Amino acid sequence: MTAPLTIADLKWLARRRVPKMFFEYADSGSWTEGTYRANEDDFAAIKLRQRVMVDMTNRSLTSTMIGHDVAMPVALAPTGFTGMQHADGEMLAAKAAEEFGVPFTLSTMSICSIEDVASVTTKPFWFQLYVMRDRDFVQNLIDRAKRAGCSALVVTADLQILGQRHKDIHNGLSAPPKFTPKHVWQMATRPQWCLGMLGTKRRTFGNIVGHAKNVSDLSSLGSWTAEQFDPRLSWKDIEWIKQQWGGKLIIKGVLDEEDARAAADTGADAVIVSNHGGRQLDGAPSSISMLPKIVDAVRDRIEVHVDGGIRSGQDVLKAVALGARGTYIGRPFLYGLGAMGKEGVDLALSILRKELDVTMALCGKRDIQTVDRSILAHNPY
Ligand code: GLV
Repeated sequence: MTAPLTIADLKWLARRRVPKMFFEYADSGSWTEGTYRANEDDFAAIKLRQRVMVDMTNRSLTSTMIGHDVAMPVALAPTGFTGMQHADGEMLAAKAAEEFGVPFTLSTMSICSIEDVASVTTKPFWFQLYVMRDRDFVQNLIDRAKRAGCSALVVTADLQILGQRHKDIHNGLSAPPKFTPKHVWQMATRPQWCLGMLGTKRRTFGNIVGHAKNVSDLSSLGSWTAEQFDPRLSWKDIEWIKQQWGGKLIIKGVLDEEDARAAADTGADAVIVSNHGGRQLDGAPSSISMLPKIVDAVRDRIEVHVDGGIRSGQDVLKAVALGARGTYIGRPFLYGLGAMGKEGVDLALSILRKELDVTMALCGKRDIQTVDRSILAHNPY
């Protein structure tokens, strides 16, 4: 294959370089995966308006997300097990994002810890928080993020109970991986990945191990979430989190106008329209199909961001046209990471930038900040 030209090329390579259990952890949705597919399909159904004979020089993709300058309106989404796609994955992805000029969001369920990522970056990154039953542990995570200089806290609202992903169960997903013949085979057929893993000590959940009490089976996401995540989480808890954190706050995982209004009432800085990449409520609508309604409902009170299904710069442009101030990519950067390490994340970001830049020009626009619904050939929603 020639050098990867698309996110799909990076996915193709990642499938060949990452052990099946971790590749499929990224490339999966819950139950029938209908919402996972809808996220991508609904982007494809949106058509752009071709414009000609307009000055296309001096284009700009720069913007802001929650007041932070971004080289393009794309942040790296928080993703679990990232350090299992490639050794030290979160540290590499954070460096790539920093060099590119877009935010990196570290997941609570990361392999590299908050402190690991802080040790290799020079600019603040964002931290994603899962709210656990053990509030002392939550408080401790918030304090660690503050000490590391994180500049935004992203609270996930849509994963207090885990949607079932059949592939993870079939694969016996865990971190560190088990040493059954099936798992050893999956790893042995990925020698480059194994070499990387032998060269790092980071092979389990770095934010949790040594910090949380009473964790019986940390290696399994299913039992860990069932035991530790707080299913009573409510809007009232956001008040407490806001007080503990005292900085920029983003609420991730809202897919409904009423919930978006409640998120705006909390005084948070942004809401992320998201169905968790189709990994939670299978049967929920795609994120992009819900974006316009949520933008109309709360745009004056809170920034609206979106994730789910973005696989190209064209998709970023469509999301911005439908009112998103920012977008997030999860799988696209994970595929880059699994395929080629940091270089693959650099490549994923530059692929998206190039696609976004040229597509914006072909729609007759020179500045991403002036992109609106007028660039769509027809309004699908
Ligand atoms: C965790 O955030 C997951 O979706 O697996």
